[in-house]
Amino acid sequence: MLPGPTNVPNRVMRAMLAPIINHRSDDFVELYSDVVEKTQQVFQTQNDIVALSASGTGAVEAGVINLIKKDDKVIIPVNGEFSNRLSQLIAGQGANVIKLETPPGQNATFDQVKEAFDNNNDVKAFYVVHNETSTGTMVNYLDRVSDLTSRNDAFYVVDSVSLLGGVSLPVDKWNIDVCMTGAQKALAAPPGISPISVSAKAKKYMIENPPPTMYFNLARYFHYYEESKHTPFTPALPLLYAYREALTIMLEEGLETVYKRHKVCSDALYSGLSAIGLTPFAKEEDRSISIVALNYLEGLQDKTFRDTLAQKFKVLVAGGFGDLKGKVFRVGCMGEVSPYHVMRTISAISSTLAMMGYETNAQAGLKTAEEKLKDL
Ligand SMILES: Cc1ncc(COP(=O)(O)O)c(C=O)c1O
Repeated sequence: MLPGPTNVPNRVMRAMLAPIINHRSDDFVELYSDVVEKTQQVFQTQNDIVALSASGTGAVEAGVINLIKKDDKVIIPVNGEFSNRLSQLIAGQGANVIKLETPPGQNATFDQVKEAFDNNNDVKAFYVVHNETSTGTMVNYLDRVSDLTSRNDAFYVVDSVSLLGGVSLPVDKWNIDVCMTGAQKALAAPPGISPISVSAKAKKYMIENPPPTMYFNLARYFHYYEESKHTPFTPALPLLYAYREALTIMLEEGLETVYKRHKVCSDALYSGLSAIGLTPFAKEEDRSISIVALNYLEGLQDKTFRDTLAQKFKVLVAGGFGDLKGKVFRVGCMGEVSPYHVMRTISAISSTLAMMGYETNAQAGLKTAEEKLKDL
């Protein structure tokens, strides 16, 4: 139940046993074309796809260094570790960063974003972390941002590393120019492949203004794909096989069913864990579907709690980041997540709290979650 990497189905693990092939062969063309086509379906886009052999940060870095130059003006909401890192990366390019800062657990409102666009007609790009993994918040107005980016002729860039696949993110419908994710979160594949989609407009810019780097220069990937359906550098072949299998499983289940499963399991976790006596960290309307962040009860020791949960019940959850260390813990709700995971997690957390001397209402938690899970 980590906020990534998440559980990987056996079918996906077994896919990695396929032979290591020549990445300049027809076999590779078949594999990589299938990866691109299935990624397009999951991203709901016809845009170019690059499946980078890198962790999510690689895709995020590529999404910045290929678009942002010195003195460019960029708007970005910041309310946690990952949005902060993204803003630092953008600032590192010498850009003029307009940060819309809000307290952790709370998103900038759409009106705040609109005001920033109104005040900055010359903005070059809007960057946003869809799901702030460090605090368990999710932005719910991505559909409306494209009116602003189109009006100001700005690029629209989304880091959906910890959510894409868990909710519908229609890249083309919402006119997202660059969208990045990581295989190890809602897509339920091993870490190491990070796909990125690039619109025709962003692609043109990237080809005409390449960054002074090699590995994350996306123009090279477009060129190789167009010429031969190859990648410019040796890809992580076993991970590509696994990633393809994970996408196949998702498409077999059906994207709408996958989204519904995530939503219902998330609702059941929030309400069940609240019923045993815990409180979610994030503001209600900003709460993430895939990361359930909860406040620690007074005096509860983070390490002892998580160690007991792991050792006695085999349930892994994550602690807090930075200032939130020791104050919150985070339960991942993505990928393979099912009623089994929800019920077992609530029961294990409740028992762990009881073993540590806290009064909990396990029965109420399980009953509340069962009710929610009836929607599946
Ligand atoms: C929103 C977000 N962006 C970027 C990253 C970085 O991904 P990685 O750790 O795979 O490099 C993460 C990782 O959790 C994330 O949650």
